[in-house]
Amino acid sequence: MANTQWWKKSVVYQIYPQSFQDSNHDGIGDLQGIIKKLPYLEKLGVNVLWLNPIYKSPQVDNGYDIADYYQIDKRYGTIADFKELLQKAHNKNIRIIMDLVVNHTSDQNIWFQESKKSRDNKYSDYYIWHDPKPDGTPPNNWGSTFTDSAWEFVPERGQYYLHLFAKEQPDLNWENPKVRKEVYQLMRYWLDLGVDGFRMDVITLLSKLQDFPDAPKDLPIHKNYYFGSSNGPREHEFLQEMAHEVFDDYDVMTVGEAANTNSDQAILYTDPKRHELNMLFQFDHMHLDYGKYGKFSDVRFKLSDLRNVFTEWQNKLVNGWNSLYWSNHDQPRPTTRFGNEQQYLTQSAKMLGTLLHMMKGTPYIFQGEELGMRNVKFNSLSDYQDIETKQVIQEMRKAGESEAYIKKVCYLKSRDNARTPFPWNDSKNGGFTDAQPWMKVSPDYSIINAQKELNDPNSVFYYYQKLISLRKKYQVIVDGKYQNFNSNDSAVYGYTRTNENERLVVICSFSTNKVNYTVPYELAGGQLLLSNYRSAHEKLGTHLILEPYEALIYYQKLTH
Ligand code: GLC
Ligand code: CA
Repeated sequence: MANTQWWKKSVVYQIYPQSFQDSNHDGIGDLQGIIKKLPYLEKLGVNVLWLNPIYKSPQVDNGYDIADYYQIDKRYGTIADFKELLQKAHNKNIRIIMDLVVNHTSDQNIWFQESKKSRDNKYSDYYIWHDPKPDGTPPNNWGSTFTDSAWEFVPERGQYYLHLFAKEQPDLNWENPKVRKEVYQLMRYWLDLGVDGFRMDVITLLSKLQDFPDAPKDLPIHKNYYFGSSNGPREHEFLQEMAHEVFDDYDVMTVGEAANTNSDQAILYTDPKRHELNMLFQFDHMHLDYGKYGKFSDVRFKLSDLRNVFTEWQNKLVNGWNSLYWSNHDQPRPTTRFGNEQQYLTQSAKMLGTLLHMMKGTPYIFQGEELGMRNVKFNSLSDYQDIETKQVIQEMRKAGESEAYIKKVCYLKSRDNARTPFPWNDSKNGGFTDAQPWMKVSPDYSIINAQKELNDPNSVFYYYQKLISLRKKYQVIVDGKYQNFNSNDSAVYGYTRTNENERLVVICSFSTNKVNYTVPYELAGGQLLLSNYRSAHEKLGTHLILEPYEALIYYQKLTH
């Protein structure tokens, strides 16, 4: 695999720093906590860590509102702690990528503090300012993700500024070359320090239609800004400039968060010839269970839709590259969402891991996924901390939804499901902190925790460890062509990965019942590499009786 770029052979582990491990008894996870847990991550076998934002921030949106791009937030430690983490991780051959949030800053950022003062200072054009309409109302009808209007009025300037997220997250003006320079400079600062790349927050939103037209009335208010700001006219130009100004000088990986971006657009972003990004976080599989309020619904996905989405992306990104994920800090836990969080919790966790990790692309594991964590049952809606969840609760109450329904959809979809502190053991607060944790620990910690799984050879942890090690061992997992089979089966997802010399057959059941399954005869013959029920070395025949949520990976050397 000598010539393959390192990030194509890697498995990324996402750390949500405030919820990983507290080291100084303030109830907030921190950099020394991550350092302490490096041996755990090394044992799991991951090659890259992605840290959610750790820069100085007032934490209106948990760090996605950056007040100073050159400082580590005190709650996480110091720049010395960060350098120590980087060095210790690198010593273990673990790379680190940072979150790059440059569509917007915090309103506390000095750039914004200056910008809002007047129309003619050095920073005046760092943000997107527009005059009110003649009647004093906002320049257009765009809503923001967290508020009804995406515009906020500032009396000092007599103008509105644009914020696609909270009003404390003003959007930067990417049309201004000085802004772009600032961004490239801060990127170089971190890369020169030794970081190995960036996860790039809402990166497809940088370029806005400059006439800022109203969005069509029928679009959902909190996302209608996509109309004038996703995949905008200068988007690719900006990213190519960034690659030229920054990335060309470093051996790094880039993954862009790509809301509202389809697979055809993704080809443009990820085609290596175009020099933009290595890969994207696409959202099509995250949209399969949306309802009236978007993500916050109790709709259940359909396997046929999931297969269609994955197959489309696997087949389309031939020159480009896929990122593979079930969840992250913005999404609920996959066991609850796509698996079975009750009777088949561990089996379905392993099955989902199998389905994803054997595909083509770079897999991402969100902390706790390797333990098979599930969504968190809070007693009260007031336990939710997340700005998005709070906003949705308010909106649903206004719309007259019952408390029971609101509770149910928050349980199913709130971002806080992923954000609870990491359960290290079954002691108080799951061993995350001995102080009051910044956010409630999931009550599951006594039954789902790292220590317990490390002591159990059949745990989800060790299964994930095996999935990760398979990727390092078999080239076909990295480069094999994807193809699905039995593609009308409503309960079982089967696919192959094939290169010149090898073939992988992957079979994943989404059924709570046993399933009689027929394998196309031309695929038979491989040897079992891994399963969540059977022991290895079995040969694949043409007929299987699958257990509930069974997952199977068969490997075959091809003779020509
Ligand atoms: C991205 C982040 C999310 C944040 C938003 C605004 O979607 O993943 O957590 O709220 O951008 O920065
Ligand atoms: Ca701490």
